[in-house]
Amino acid sequence: MNALLKTLAHAMTVGGLMASACLVATSSVWADVSSIADNVHYGAASCAGGACHGKSSRQDNRTVWLNEHRIWRSQDYHSRAYKTLLSPASKLIAAKLGLASAHTADICLDCHADNVPKDKRGPEFSLNDGVGCEACHGGSENWIKTHDDKGNTHADNIANGLYPSEQPVARAQLCLSCHLGTPEKFTTHRIMGAGHPRLSFELENFTTNQPPHFSVDDDYRDRKGDFEGVQLWLSGQLEGSRQFLKMLGSSYFTGSRGMPEFSLYDCQSCHHGLDPNDLRWYTERRQQGIEPGSLRLADHHFRTLQLISQELSPAKTAALKKAIDQLVLAGQGDPKAMATTVTQLQGLIDELGAQWRGLSVSTANVKALRKRLVGEAASRRMVDYGTAEQGLLSIVTLTEYLGEADRLANSLDQLFNGLGNDETFRPKAYQRAAKAVQGSF
Ligand code: HEC
Ligand code: HEC
Ligand code: HEC
Ligand code: HEC
Repeated sequence: MNALLKTLAHAMTVGGLMASACLVATSSVWADVSSIADNVHYGAASCAGGACHGKSSRQDNRTVWLNEHRIWRSQDYHSRAYKTLLSPASKLIAAKLGLASAHTADICLDCHADNVPKDKRGPEFSLNDGVGCEACHGGSENWIKTHDDKGNTHADNIANGLYPSEQPVARAQLCLSCHLGTPEKFTTHRIMGAGHPRLSFELENFTTNQPPHFSVDDDYRDRKGDFEGVQLWLSGQLEGSRQFLKMLGSSYFTGSRGMPEFSLYDCQSCHHGLDPNDLRWYTERRQQGIEPGSLRLADHHFRTLQLISQELSPAKTAALKKAIDQLVLAGQGDPKAMATTVTQLQGLIDELGAQWRGLSVSTANVKALRKRLVGEAASRRMVDYGTAEQGLLSIVTLTEYLGEADRLANSLDQLFNGLGNDETFRPKAYQRAAKAVQGSF
């Protein structure tokens, strides 16, 4: 996790994101992220007009803020995603990969810009916009003229090709398509080895850090429904697992040279120091069939899911744990077992998703979930940086839901300091930090 994320993870008070801890779930639609490229993209400039989304300050008397373009341009890293491809770091990555340049290579543009086909680019479209409005909201060809008409509804806009990014599942799929990757665009270990940063994602924290250019107020709920709160976090966890299963079920697992793609494993499964007093393997791993010195799949989403299931779906936990153990074992390099387990786990995750979407998650549930996450950190089981990081981002999110960020600021700081970053992470130090603050949660 970079320093910015760490700082921002503490400052999650941006307008409207605070939600009461007792939330009744609303229905959720499935969307297809690829539909974003169905219609012509007119470019961020076409949204930037002074009467449109280009105002210099937030208009509280209007339905939407109308300064979205300003926020995106000045605070949102997505607006500089293309420029990043011109940086010395990107030049070096491109050179190492044998690419002519990063800013002309589809493999980079697919995540760092709105890289729709040429026939879907309107007159004001510019790759320079990086991840522009329509990379998230969908091509505006059929809604740009009508979306602010009186009497026009959100459902009308969606029918005209607006992406339903207010829906937790759809939003998670959207963000994860770049922040985790898909079989069509993925930061392989070859790209990582050339210098690309490791990717990490947690929907709620990243929504806050973007930062948001919307607020979930009464008017928003009237137009779109109430989709914030614990449901957003749950959807992020479920979709993170599902998206990762997609990668495991793809040819990336069978690999091009008889070896699975290394990016499917926890980076620290291979990259960590060898201090004999701080080794990663612990005996419970043997139950998963993981002997000392084995590769460990990047199983952080599944680990969190298992903890959530213990709290929200205890009857399903044993089956889930078994399937996750089988997945991790198949991850040792058994494509046939992997294919079977991926299908089975997808089924279980669908069942959990259906159950959780209909659930009213109480304050007591949220507290108990957080206790489990902190407890896991205080055990000897969060030994991979990816798992520890995902757990801590979730602890932050749940603490925000409970409105306890101020009271627990000190404890959260200690956890962040104990975690360090992916270079400095030491399982023992993190365990110590978690043990020291466990009582306060
Ligand atoms: C089309 C690909 C794409 C999509 C979709 C996307 N992102 Fe990003 N995101 C990026 C890229 C690329 C960067 C890095 C930009 C840079 O620094 O050059 C980034 C950066 C970020 C950052 C800053 C990370 C940091 O290091 O501080 C946040 C926060 C973020 N995205 C949140 C989101 C959220 C929330 C969503 C979904 C609503 C989302 N992103 C959807 C590609 C995408
Ligand atoms: C699967 C999507 C994806 C692909 C493919 C991808 N990137 Fe990224 N890249 C991201 C995201 C997301 C981030 C932001 C990571 C974060 O901060 O969490 C990022 C961050 C970066 C950064 C660090 C930016 C900063 O300010 O620290 C560089 C440099 C970079 N990418 C270059 C490239 C290059 C060059 C390519 C092509 C070889 C490429 N990326 C391909 C998604 C992608
Ligand atoms: C990385 C993804 C991303 C990018 C880029 C992005 N948005 Fe958004 N936007 C969101 C999300 C997520 C929401 C909140 C969910 C929703 O209401 O759809 C949102 C909400 C909105 C809303 C609705 C607010 C409301 O009250 O209903 C407007 C308007 C908007 N964005 C405009 C823009 C404009 C204009 C740009 C470009 C300057 C832009 N967005 C760029 C993700 C993005
Ligand atoms: C299966 C073991 C394995 C896993 C898992 C793995 N790597 Fe690697 N990595 C290697 C090997 C082997 C090399 C090449 C040896 C070297 O140069 O250090 C390497 C090289 C690298 C390098 C370049 C090092 C250099 O000095 O040139 C980076 C950066 C890197 N890996 C990042 C990652 C990231 C990020 C992840 C997780 C997404 C990851 N690795 C997962 C085995 C692994």
